Amino acid sequence: MRIELPDTSIGAFVHGCQLREVDEGAVTALKGLLRERMMICIRGQSLTPVGFRDAMTRLGTPMLPSDGNVHPEVRELNVISHEDRAKTGKVVGFHWHTDQSFRERPAALTTLFGVETPATGGDTQFANMYAAYDALRPDMKAELDQIRVVHRYRSTRKDTLARGLTAEQEEALPEVLHPIVRTHPETGRKALYLNRNRMDRIPDFGPDRSEALLDRLMAHATQERFTYRHKWQPGDVVIWDNRCTMHKANGDYPEGARRYIVRMMTQGERPV
Ligand code: SIN
Repeated sequence: MRIELPDTSIGAFVHGCQLREVDEGAVTALKGLLRERMMICIRGQSLTPVGFRDAMTRLGTPMLPSDGNVHPEVRELNVISHEDRAKTGKVVGFHWHTDQSFRERPAALTTLFGVETPATGGDTQFANMYAAYDALRPDMKAELDQIRVVHRYRSTRKDTLARGLTAEQEEALPEVLHPIVRTHPETGRKALYLNRNRMDRIPDFGPDRSEALLDRLMAHATQERFTYRHKWQPGDVVIWDNRCTMHKANGDYPEGARRYIVRMMTQGERPV
């Protein structure tokens, strides 16, 4: 197994590792690398959908997809495909976000397998939310450490409608209150916890003050100096930790190009 680090504070490439045959030692090494680098890409994978699910289940308990295109054969997987863009004109996840923050126990890891990827465009961007927190002034950190934000599936700030839950599913989802700074349960480090589309409001602030702070933090956290931009190759397995990152899809691949990616998330804990 050979590790290559890009020239950014987040991300790592793993070469010479076939996920369908890795032993426990290699799985432990991958988890350690993910803790350090927040997002990893294991190149050159050849996996069936079941093989991908089984390999990713070694990293955590699958979180069943409740929205989006569930894989026709493997219920733990979603499909993200160029067909979504053809139907809706949008791609899933094109705003900066962390997965499933509208839930009381959001996703810990998200894992994607790039089955077909475009030669140009369709990159996925990642932001290091430890670094975004660390770069704040001490007085700002002290203020944010006390703030909680209401997250909702259909928040007032949401403007993606590429896919959605049914009215009944939405109804069954209460608002949740999450800290705006969370402590990672494994590393003990603090990270900003933001989601462009699911943060609804800061309850004790008026609407204008709440919007202004959330917008300001989103702009701060997504500065280029905190980010890494992943250019896909077919056979990439990309894994990230939602507890210390945000990510963003890009729908800028050419008309007629194919982008077919399968996704599995793992169950996380209540953010604290
Ligand atoms: C996602 O937000 O999970 C989708 C990422 C992508 O398609 O690049």
